[in-house]
Amino acid sequence: MNFGLEGKRAFICAGAHGIGEAVADLLAQEGASVIVADRDEGVLMEKASRWTGIVAADLATAQGVNTAVAYVLKTFGRAPDILINNLGVGNSSSFELISDEDWANSLEINLMSCIRTCRALIPEMAKNGSASIVNTGSDVAKQPEPTLLDYGVCKAGLLYLTKALAKQYAPHVRVNAVLPGPVWTMMWTRPGGLADQLVASYGVADREAAVGRFLEDRYLPLGIGEAADVANAIVFLASPLARFITGAALDLGGTQRGLI
Ligand SMILES: NC(=O)c1ccc[n+]([C@@H]2O[C@H](COP(=O)([O-])OP(=O)(O)OC[C@H]3O[C@@H](n4cnc5c(N)ncnc54)[C@H](O)[C@@H]3O)[C@@H](O)[C@H]2O)c1
Repeated sequence: MNFGLEGKRAFICAGAHGIGEAVADLLAQEGASVIVADRDEGVLMEKASRWTGIVAADLATAQGVNTAVAYVLKTFGRAPDILINNLGVGNSSSFELISDEDWANSLEINLMSCIRTCRALIPEMAKNGSASIVNTGSDVAKQPEPTLLDYGVCKAGLLYLTKALAKQYAPHVRVNAVLPGPVWTMMWTRPGGLADQLVASYGVADREAAVGRFLEDRYLPLGIGEAADVANAIVFLASPLARFITGAALDLGGTQRGLI
């Protein structure tokens, strides 16, 4: 299938690993020029030859977003045709243990980053005529989880932002979201990541038992996905093949308990 991405300019936020990396590679493979921003400078440097440009930045800060956006505008010579807001970090914790500081950090990472890149780039992207944005949300935006509360609140906000911006900037900029169920990336696999956190919160023996219980609790018939499963959906939504789609939030992973 030809996505029609030849010559498009794409900016991927948080693309050194996981879902963002898979999106960056697929866009590049489809002929787009790709700039990847991430805070993991070492890994960005290792992978730099795969993309048009890289920029090391902490995208959870206003300064980091400014640095990345300035690099993108300078390198492309104009605003990108495609913006992928993929930054998100979720930690499992109980409501009573999430401090004001934790909430503030989560908002900066999981919501403000996307707000800042959109605010900095959408007006110029609209001038390009047919730009598109895809935000990486989460299935928890529609099915609240007490163990991922701050993250889920931010992802629900991201869903609202996606739909509101889609209305405001149609037809010049399409704005869509994907809402993945669990995907086997560093978010789960890193030491102390979601898999280990669930072992602790369920009080089970190992990761396998924790993941099994999570899937069962949430009726996830397709199990755990891979980064490429999400990248395929994101790249489709970003591409001209989805020219008739805006304000959509695509459920990925077979979630069956959506509330809205
Ligand atoms: N993995 C899942 O189960 C899952 C499910 C639903 C949604 N998501 C969403 O998918 C997106 C990507 O997650 P992933 O699973 O690929 O995670 P990941 O942990 O594999 O990758 C996250 C990337 O973000 C980068 N990063 C972290 N903090 C940063 C910061 N402050 N500034 C710049 N870069 C930063 C990391 O270096 C890494 O490259 C996130 O928005 C996440 O919320 C993931």
